[in-house]
Amino acid sequence: ARHLLGIEHLAPNEITLLLDLADRYVDLNRRDVKHDTALTGLTQINMFFEASTRTQASFELAGKRLGADVMNMNMQGSSLKKGETLIDTAMTLNAMHPDLLVVRHPSSGAVALLAQKVNCAVLNAGDGRHEHPTQALLDALTIRRAKGRLHRLTVAICGDVAHSRVARSNIWLLGKMENRVRLVGPPTLLPAGAADWGVEVCYDMREGLRDADVVMMLRLQRERMDGAFIPSEREYFHRFGLDAEKLAHAKDDAIVMHPGPMNRGVEIDGTLADDINRSVIQDQVEMGVAVRMAAMDLLARNLRAARSSPEVMV
Ligand code: CP
Repeated sequence: ARHLLGIEHLAPNEITLLLDLADRYVDLNRRDVKHDTALTGLTQINMFFEASTRTQASFELAGKRLGADVMNMNMQGSSLKKGETLIDTAMTLNAMHPDLLVVRHPSSGAVALLAQKVNCAVLNAGDGRHEHPTQALLDALTIRRAKGRLHRLTVAICGDVAHSRVARSNIWLLGKMENRVRLVGPPTLLPAGAADWGVEVCYDMREGLRDADVVMMLRLQRERMDGAFIPSEREYFHRFGLDAEKLAHAKDDAIVMHPGPMNRGVEIDGTLADDINRSVIQDQVEMGVAVRMAAMDLLARNLRAARSSPEVMV
């Protein structure tokens, strides 16, 4: 593929290929072998139209560790503020000959639209409530390393699924790899029609966590709620926040995940989030660098191959 826009169109063997390469980068990073040449001579531009800590930092580190020239655009200080459109901004940057564009945007579909207008590889770093493919891939790598496999697991995705691109990408990926996915939360925060997605739907945490191998918690995304449903944090934690008592309904060796940023005492108990015997939240962050290294490495190989035989470039 030329771009990484979502999990929806990836085949299981492509997911496995990327995770296998990411595994190698985890080992190199742990051995402090942090300089590679996979992206040497290539220019990577990061364009984040929405706030980010983990994704932006890990894409920047990933590019630098692979030898790319990395530029972080300050979108707050860009000419978008003067009325320039997203597409004009993209065309302007395209004229500077970047090779990799990493884009986060608040509108679903904006990154795919931009990808149609540029000559380089585009990586979706999260678009609206649509997809966040590298998050699902880093979650998959974390699960595979913790559980020893990425199939026939029961995964409970809990909380504000309706507004979550992380949930959508994970539902695609976990389904493709033949896992059982259960969405757990209040009806107002589960997407309409979710029962048609090949997942189970449950409105009670204790029931939803039963026999789960993986418990994935999501943040209440108030910025996407348009004031429609703002539960009180105390009431929400009581009913849907993950604590040790609710987790006891999952398997004894169930792992706890959260993509971050997390709100302690809202969707997850802070002590549980810090419990290294159950929580793999810091592992997820570590896997994020390796997965982004692997994704950019593979896209760069395709880009170089396409440029050396331009007739196959699509
Ligand atoms: N998980 C995630 O996308 O975090 P950031 O918003 O900090 O990048």
